Amino acid sequence: MIRYGILSTASIIGRFIAGIRESQDGEVYAIASRTLDKAKAAAKQFGIEHYYGNYEELYNDENIDIVYIPTVNGFHYRDCKNALLHHKHVIVEKPFTLTSKEALELFELARKQNCFLMEAQKCVFLPTTLKLKELLNQGIIGDLKYIELKAGFPGRFDYSHWMYDLSMGGGSLYGSATYTIELMQFLFDQPYFEIDGSCLKCPTGSDEICNFQLKINQRILVSSTIAMNVALKNEAVFYGEKGYIVIPNYWKSSQLDIYFHNGQTEHFDFPYQSEFVYEINHIHNCLKQDLITSPIMTPAKTIEACHLVVTLYQQWKGNHNG
Ligand SMILES: NC(=O)c1ccc[n+]([C@@H]2O[C@H](COP(=O)([O-])OP(=O)(O)OC[C@H]3O[C@@H](n4cnc5c(N)ncnc54)[C@H](OP(=O)(O)O)[C@@H]3O)[C@@H](O)[C@H]2O)c1
Repeated sequence: MIRYGILSTASIIGRFIAGIRESQDGEVYAIASRTLDKAKAAAKQFGIEHYYGNYEELYNDENIDIVYIPTVNGFHYRDCKNALLHHKHVIVEKPFTLTSKEALELFELARKQNCFLMEAQKCVFLPTTLKLKELLNQGIIGDLKYIELKAGFPGRFDYSHWMYDLSMGGGSLYGSATYTIELMQFLFDQPYFEIDGSCLKCPTGSDEICNFQLKINQRILVSSTIAMNVALKNEAVFYGEKGYIVIPNYWKSSQLDIYFHNGQTEHFDFPYQSEFVYEINHIHNCLKQDLITSPIMTPAKTIEACHLVVTLYQQWKGNHNG
C-alpha cells in the first residue's frame, strides 16, 4: 500500500481522499493541520487513524510515503520544499507554485532527494480527456481551428478570503488557468505556447475575471475565460471544419458530445465515483516503477504553465484593469 499524508484540512481533501480509497492500493495514513482540534475533527470525519496539530510532525512520520499538498496556493512552494527535505514523495495541487523559478527549484530538489514530484492536474488523466484526444487525433471534426473554454465560480468566497489575495496565489488566473494550459499541453503534446490576455480586478487588487488566448502552432486559437464574479456556461468547445465537440465542466468532465455540421450527433459517457482516482492511479504506477517525475504531467509542462501565468500577471501589474 502507498501511504498518504494529507497536509491541511483544505475543503478539497474529501474528494482526493475518496480517490485514494477508490484506487485500492493507496491508504490515507495521516492528516495534519495548523491546529490539533482541526486535525482531530478532520481525522474523525474522514476516518483517518493518525493526526497532527502541525505540519512538521507529518513530514517526520516515517510511515508516510507521499504527501498531498492542497494548502493555500502561496504556500505550495514552502510546503513542498519541506516535504521533499524530509525525503517524502510529493503531489502538489494546482497551481503548482506562483513562479516558474520556484517550480524549477522544487523539481531540482526532488531529483537530488530522489523523490517523486508531480503537480496534481486531474484533468489530463480523465477518461473524457483521453477520448477527446483520440477523437481529435482521428480528425473526427476535421481540422481544428478554435477552442473556447469557460469556467465561472461566483459567490464561493468573500473579498477577505485568500482566493482574493494575489500575494497568496488568489485571483481567477492563478485559480484555474492551469486547467486550460495543461489540458492544451496534453492534447497537443507540447509544453510551450504564445499567450496574451486581459483581466478586470476587484477592490482587493486581484483579478476577478480574466480572459486569455493561446496560439497553438500558429494553427489553432484558444480563448479561455475564468470568472469568480459571474456564472458562465462551464464548458470547453472544440471547433473543427466538420463540426464541434462540447465538454461540460472540462476540468472534471464525465461526458462529451460531438455535433457534426451534417446534423449528426454522437454522445459519450465516462461516469466515475471520484474524478481524482485516475491521477492517483497514475501516481501509483509511477511510484511502482521508481520514477521521480511523471511522463504525462511532466516538470517541463508544469514549469511552463507557471511561466505563462506569471507572464500575464506581469503584464497586468499596476494596471487596474489588466
Ligand atoms: N484539483 C482540484 O480539483 C482542486 C479543486 C479545488 C482546489 N484545488 C486546489 O487545492 C488547494 C486548496 O484549495 P481549497 O479551496 O480546498 O482551499 P481551502 O479550503 O481554503 O484550504 C486551504 C488550507 O490551507 C491551510 N492553510 C495553511 N496556511 C493558511 C493560511 N495562512 N490561511 C488559510 N489557510 C491556510 C489550511 O489548513 P489547516 O488550517 O488545516 O492547516 C486550509 O484549510 C488550492 O491550491 C486549490 O487551487 C484543487
